[in-house]
Amino acid sequence: MKLSTKHLLGIKDLNKEDIQLILSTAGQFKEVLQRPVKKVPSLRDITIVNLFYENSTRTRMSFELAERRLSADVLNFTASSSSAAKGETLLDTVNNILSMKVDLVVMRHSASGAPHFLAKHIPAAIVNAGDGINEHPTQALLDAFSMQEKTGRIEGLKVAIIGDIMHSRVALSNMYLLKKMGAEITVVGPPTLIPKYLEEALGVRVTYNVQEALQWCDVANVLRIQLERQNQPLFSSLREYNLAYGIKQKMLDKLNKEIVIMHPGPINRGVELDSDVADGPHSIILNQVENGVAVRMAALYLLAGRSDEN
Ligand code: CP
Repeated sequence: MKLSTKHLLGIKDLNKEDIQLILSTAGQFKEVLQRPVKKVPSLRDITIVNLFYENSTRTRMSFELAERRLSADVLNFTASSSSAAKGETLLDTVNNILSMKVDLVVMRHSASGAPHFLAKHIPAAIVNAGDGINEHPTQALLDAFSMQEKTGRIEGLKVAIIGDIMHSRVALSNMYLLKKMGAEITVVGPPTLIPKYLEEALGVRVTYNVQEALQWCDVANVLRIQLERQNQPLFSSLREYNLAYGIKQKMLDKLNKEIVIMHPGPINRGVELDSDVADGPHSIILNQVENGVAVRMAALYLLAGRSDEN
């Protein structure tokens, strides 16, 4: 089987079969990653550049590890230490890198739509590793993989997405994916951090009551407050945000039911999530990070078009 798309720019462009194919392939790669020798030769004649115009810990290391586990050759580009800092354009930068016989571009950029722009101008396949406030498709895929691994299903699962919905590419990619896969979604946060008309646009439920959402859901995906993307104050203070919307252990103690706590990272401890919850028994946050490698191996492998050859 093959993906229906050449690029992985967003979950919006994938169909349900694409998502199922990536998740099932990731399951096979997760099994490979449990072996003493964690490397396979699948991409041994492929060269991949990781083009990061915005900071990252998890996504960048996860992609690099996935590429190396697949035996690809890997180039790493950091904008702040490159000629981009001297004013070189994105397109000039990428065309110069591609002239060195690079096959695939993994790209993070603070501008929404930057990978979509690039896809119109270069021949190589592009994987979006997060573009501004638009999409973070591999995060949504690893979130779905982790939900399925923990609960046994995605269809019919009740997922609460809590926090800064307005500025979160993780929220948008998760909403697209979970809707396509038949999950139920409630978004929760201050009214100023939830886009208007979200219910009508994406078919999700909106509430401003965190405890009610926790009582309803099977899985709570808690998001980072993205102060760097807020040009003006959208709530009174971080302390008051934590009081009204932060997830605390005492809120989980009241539930009298199982719940799974997720967070894409990095966590603002004591703001959207208290440490005893982040590090507690309901949390699968580090499982998400672990699963990211297998999911990115699957996406890269399938995009490189090798699925029919092995
Ligand atoms: N989840 C995520 O995208 O984390 P990084 O910004 O560290 O890559």
